[in-house]
Amino acid sequence: MRILIIGSEGMLGHDLVDALSIENEVNTTTIDTLDITDIDKTIQTVKEMKPDVLVHAAAYTDVDGSESNSDLAYKVNALGTRNVAVACHEADCAMVYICTDYVFDGTKGSSYYEYDQTNPLSVYGKTKLAGEVYIRDTLNKFYIVRTSWLYGFHGPNFVTTMLNLAESNDTISVVNDQIGSPTYTVDLAAAIGELIKKPAYGIYHVTNSDYCSWYEYAKQIFHNAGVNIDLKPVTTEEFPRPAPRPKYSVMENYNWKMEGYPKLRSYKQALKDYMKLL
Ligand SMILES: NC(=O)c1ccc[n+]([C@@H]2O[C@H](COP(=O)([O-])OP(=O)(O)OC[C@H]3O[C@@H](n4cnc5c(N)ncnc54)[C@H](OP(=O)(O)O)[C@@H]3O)[C@@H](O)[C@H]2O)c1
Repeated sequence: MRILIIGSEGMLGHDLVDALSIENEVNTTTIDTLDITDIDKTIQTVKEMKPDVLVHAAAYTDVDGSESNSDLAYKVNALGTRNVAVACHEADCAMVYICTDYVFDGTKGSSYYEYDQTNPLSVYGKTKLAGEVYIRDTLNKFYIVRTSWLYGFHGPNFVTTMLNLAESNDTISVVNDQIGSPTYTVDLAAAIGELIKKPAYGIYHVTNSDYCSWYEYAKQIFHNAGVNIDLKPVTTEEFPRPAPRPKYSVMENYNWKMEGYPKLRSYKQALKDYMKLL
């Protein structure tokens, strides 16, 4: 298949290029070659490249920054995604959109299914959900892939942040009342490679298995790294951030399972494998 990856220099984008190049002919764009907020250029680029599937991995991903830069977040995540969807419509290709667990408010108290009610708390979550809605309004052939707590080699992430903090601090406080599923970009990219082989379009939750709090996640990071540090569990109220986050945003990978795909490995195993290569 011919595949176009937009946002190929992002953390996930890099791994998508690696994973999808194995069996496909892959073209890429970066923010320097295609700014998705330019609708005419987006349509022109996609029409010229004529992909069978376009994977849209570009976004304004600064969750806290989105609270103060809401226009920019909306312009990129909502309108930029609309532009990509319109381009896919004009070029008659299928679209993959990467979305987030932050479309949920986290009050359900158990894992979220694809059909559960969304209710984003943050500007970032709202703009990403608006992107989903534009896609659903514009296209028939789409895969919306909601994922969470990404880490990988090609971008700053919670793992590298923790390891960096440990270099200059004896004590680190980490939130213990937000629960989610850390997901390795290498595993997610491989899963997307499987998804696009079938025209089973729709919304998919795709995360590594099992879940933890940020505090438990940090504990495992330091255990794997052999770093001895005083780690303090704190509440969200004790560690306020500009953007509100869901308390419990574990996502059932239900459609993934129903389509017969094996569940992704535990985040614990994925984290170990990632950290071995750091
Ligand atoms: N990171 C997470 O924990 C997480 C969790 C759930 C879902 N997601 C979603 O997963 C996807 C990939 O995330 P990621 O962590 O790989 O993000 P990332 O590393 O920040 O990559 C996003 C890429 O998009 C580019 N970009 C920004 N504005 C653009 C524009 N107007 N036109 C074209 N490109 C633009 C960025 O370029 P610059 O770097 O030059 O700005 C960057 O290369 C995103 O859709 C994100 O919302 C991420």
